[in-house]
Amino acid sequence: MAQSGEKIRVLIVDDISETRENLRKLLSFDPGIEVVGAAGSGEEGIALAREFHPHVILMDINMPGMDGITATQKIMEELPATQVVMLSVQGETDYLRRAMLAGARDFLTKPPSGDELMNTIRRVYEMGKARAVTMPAQPTGPGVGPAAPTTERLGNVVAVFSPKGGVGCTTVAVNLAIVLQQMLGDTQKVALMDASVQFGDVGVMLNLQASRTIADLIPHAADLDGEVLNSVVAPHGSGLKVLLAPPQPEMSEGLLDIIQEGGEEGESRSAFGIILDLMRQEFDLTIIDTWSWVDDITMTVFDAAALIVLIVMQDIPSIKSARLFLEVAERLGYPLDKIALVVNGVDRRRGIRVEQIEQAMIPVAAQIPLDEHVVRAAVNHGTPFVIRDRGRPVSQGIASLARYIKDALTEDEEESEEEGSKKAESQKGVGRLRLGRRVFR
Ligand SMILES: Nc1ncnc2c1ncn2[C@@H]1O[C@H](COP(=O)(O)OP(=O)(O)OP(=O)(O)O)[C@@H](O)[C@H]1O
Ligand SMILES: [Mg+2]
Repeated sequence: MAQSGEKIRVLIVDDISETRENLRKLLSFDPGIEVVGAAGSGEEGIALAREFHPHVILMDINMPGMDGITATQKIMEELPATQVVMLSVQGETDYLRRAMLAGARDFLTKPPSGDELMNTIRRVYEMGKARAVTMPAQPTGPGVGPAAPTTERLGNVVAVFSPKGGVGCTTVAVNLAIVLQQMLGDTQKVALMDASVQFGDVGVMLNLQASRTIADLIPHAADLDGEVLNSVVAPHGSGLKVLLAPPQPEMSEGLLDIIQEGGEEGESRSAFGIILDLMRQEFDLTIIDTWSWVDDITMTVFDAAALIVLIVMQDIPSIKSARLFLEVAERLGYPLDKIALVVNGVDRRRGIRVEQIEQAMIPVAAQIPLDEHVVRAAVNHGTPFVIRDRGRPVSQGIASLARYIKDALTEDEEESEEEGSKKAESQKGVGRLRLGRRVFR
């Protein structure tokens, strides 16, 4: 939310005057937002950004002359605190990936709805307030990112992600981790990590008052070991070990910069990457709750993940963003079977049908029903619903996702063993991932 009555200053950059006017009209409904200017080209956009120092720029990706990506890059060099939201039409994912690497914070598909537009502007504005961080200058996709130590066998990572906020990532991650701990805990060490390092809710959902969090590990990133890590992870009553994010205000801008860019001089990996590697050394399976944008923290998680649980709800904006993410994932070189699509909050009477979602995307790995009562009661109580209300359909939905993950990872292990893990990995070229295609036939 805008601080102390400050209006969010927005600059619109689009070569089509009608689009500029439509955006301006939509934004005029929000008294907290002020459109400080509208530019018809990348060059003009840069000039107006210099003049007005907007908080947020809505930038068309594809313009004659200087395109939105180049303009974004130049603006990020001069005004790194500016938050750029890319506007694109379907099918421009190649651009989009480059735009994100150029420093764009988020993206919207044209034409955005009023709600989407305002929510995105507010979200990136809040992020900008909390941190003046630019995207990495170098791609961090597979093969180009810093290498994890390869001598040891690292544990599996399962990321829970959605490019739209508020669709249930934290809810799913927490409950899923508990069920996987129950399923595998006898033989495997299971952990949950909150990679929403600044806005983490995992502690609240598990009623864990963290005396120690990931923030305590950052200063030691250069010489971390299992002992230090184990003194920081919080034990939950279920047996699950949890690496928490600090309560909101505590992760200062400085710490956030360090965790992303991290490292001592000469250290190529970010502090976050080092901490993640250590989690993988200590735990056989780490479930990671992420926030909703693709930045270097989420990219580090994605690269490490054997599976990315992609959460959607039965509405168009959520499905559109998830589809866009699938395209981005493909560009990043991730095979589609690295993504486990999950529909959360399923209500058979409302919204887009699950079959339609599958047609638009990929087969759904699990469905989690809508159950406002049970889910809310669990949050209020600080006890996950898979513990409190084990028999309810919403808990069974999580259990089916857990079984899917267990099977996929087991299949991975078996195939790796058969073929000799090193050979299999080098053939696949995608790290640990070697999931069966059976599910996607
Ligand atoms: N299956 C469900 N049935 C009913 N309510 C749900 C369900 N899943 C999540 N919710 C509710 O939706 C809201 C958002 O959930 P949650 O915080 O898990 O989402 P998120 O994607 O992690 O959001 P954020 O972007 O804020 O991190 C919460 O109020 C949660 O209780
Ligand atoms: Mg969350």
